[in-house]
Amino acid sequence: MYTIPMIILGIETTCDETGVGIVRDGHEVLTSVVATSAKMHEKYGGVVPEVAAREQMKMIIPAIEEAFQQAQCKIPEIDAIAVAQGPGLVGSLLVGVETAKVLALVWNKPLIAVNHLVGHVYANWLAPISMSNEPSFPLVALIVSGGHTDLLLMSNHDEFKWLGGTRDDAAGEVFDKVARVLGLGYPGGPEIEKAASQNQSVKSSFKFPRPMINSGNFDFSFSGLKAAVANTVNSLQLTVNSKAEIAYEFQEAVVEVLVSKAIRAAKKFKVRSIIIGGGVAANAKLRQQIIRSAKDLKVYFPEKSMAVDNGAMIAAAAFYQRNLVNPISLQADPGLYF
Ligand code: KG4
Ligand code: ZN
Repeated sequence: MYTIPMIILGIETTCDETGVGIVRDGHEVLTSVVATSAKMHEKYGGVVPEVAAREQMKMIIPAIEEAFQQAQCKIPEIDAIAVAQGPGLVGSLLVGVETAKVLALVWNKPLIAVNHLVGHVYANWLAPISMSNEPSFPLVALIVSGGHTDLLLMSNHDEFKWLGGTRDDAAGEVFDKVARVLGLGYPGGPEIEKAASQNQSVKSSFKFPRPMINSGNFDFSFSGLKAAVANTVNSLQLTVNSKAEIAYEFQEAVVEVLVSKAIRAAKKFKVRSIIIGGGVAANAKLRQQIIRSAKDLKVYFPEKSMAVDNGAMIAAAAFYQRNLVNPISLQADPGLYF
């Protein structure tokens, strides 16, 4: 099944990114065009759904046109169209799903529906890895995005077992909220990472909790950590130094919990590989700590540009999952899960 060569156009509009990727055989990125409305949400410290949806409508056709141009690809060369069906913001999702349906009908191409979270997993199959060193099953997948924090056991391409997830805020969401409390920009992840790197020592005079680190299951909870940071910030006069120290200690706390649970899952289920996906996978501290702690386990991350939302990962997931759908009846599904 996986040997059939295929060029897939992937469309991703679940949140504030308009992503269009063209991918050959599930791993070779011919192009990945991403337009984002993040700047428009900055002053609110989070995505404003109506604004995001309106921007999706403006960007989707230009992004598709640009993708074809950049990849020097013509419509007849595309074998299938893939679209993120959910989870996500309903207004944003509708734009991508309805566009993909119309294109599939007009161009007479098969349509493949992709779970956005599975897309984050398959970002790990995109170049620069080659088909010879792609992640091998069974493996543990950690998905850490703005909306989700999930641990999965994957025995094969279409065999997922959900091990646990967050009971409240997602990892990326707390990065965004803590950044806001610290008066940093949006999205918060890269801002916290930058502030933390300005911390002068490898220590911090602040100490935040590592929620559920010893819970014995694979669930997460980050809202208490967020509250602890907010209480600390409210109790003092912020300086450049204290901001850096708080950002540092907060990042340490999140990373420690994520790394500890992912490695415990890998050991429990006796897998040799861990893959990480989602926007928080772009975090250098997370990358460094999991590689350090994983020892003889193999750890995979997507390229930073492929960790955050993009259309190429949707095309990659479609290549392996082949969830063919009817372009007339497909519906966006904001609550889609595993
Ligand atoms: O996967 P993604 O692009 O969108 C969702 O599906 O939600 O993830 C976005 C999230 C945001 O919360 C953002 O703050 C976080 O990923 N993020 C990071 C970093 N880059 C993006 N978090 C920590 N460190 C980063 N370098
Ligand atoms: Zn995402």
